[in-house]
Amino acid sequence: MLTFRTIKSLTQCLKGSRAAGLRVGFVPTMGFLHAGHRALIEESVAHCDVTVVSIFVNPTQFGPNEDLDRYPRALEADHALCRTAGVNLIFVPDAGEIYPPGFQTTVEPGPVAEPLCGAVRPGHFRGVATVVAKLFNLVQPEVAFFGQKDFQQCAVIRQWVHGRQRVGIGRIST
Ligand code: PAF
Repeated sequence: MLTFRTIKSLTQCLKGSRAAGLRVGFVPTMGFLHAGHRALIEESVAHCDVTVVSIFVNPTQFGPNEDLDRYPRALEADHALCRTAGVNLIFVPDAGEIYPPGFQTTVEPGPVAEPLCGAVRPGHFRGVATVVAKLFNLVQPEVAFFGQKDFQQCAVIRQWVHGRQRVGIGRIST
């Protein structure tokens, strides 16, 4: 299992996987992995040649009154879970790698993000859609796996990838 902290090293490695015709599966996470994440990873390992897990606590999906700093982190345990679950590559960028100085362009998810959780967490799904778009562009997976318990998040991503040929979403309940 390889761990990458920079976009350059991750994309260089994945270029090799794609050149070899390998099917890349992707499980984006914010870390503090649990049995639900493991199930998503195992689904990817079962159906793909290469499984990539990102661990990134995404600041743009936290509101001003939501405590980003207190989000639980357990990098060592996350690594152990990934290793035993068969992950090939872990991407653990820092915030500056994903949001470099001067960053200002975001992905607006549209009406699907307005009701339910979106109504009480303004901007949350913009942050989710923005980081997922960035990560998809880097990893360029054939399939990405999201937990179904985050129902509206799945709806936002499903809406966003609609019509794209190369990315599907595999979802299982967590
Ligand atoms: O579901 C999560 O853990 C996050 O919202 C995601 C999809 C990794 C984006 O930061």
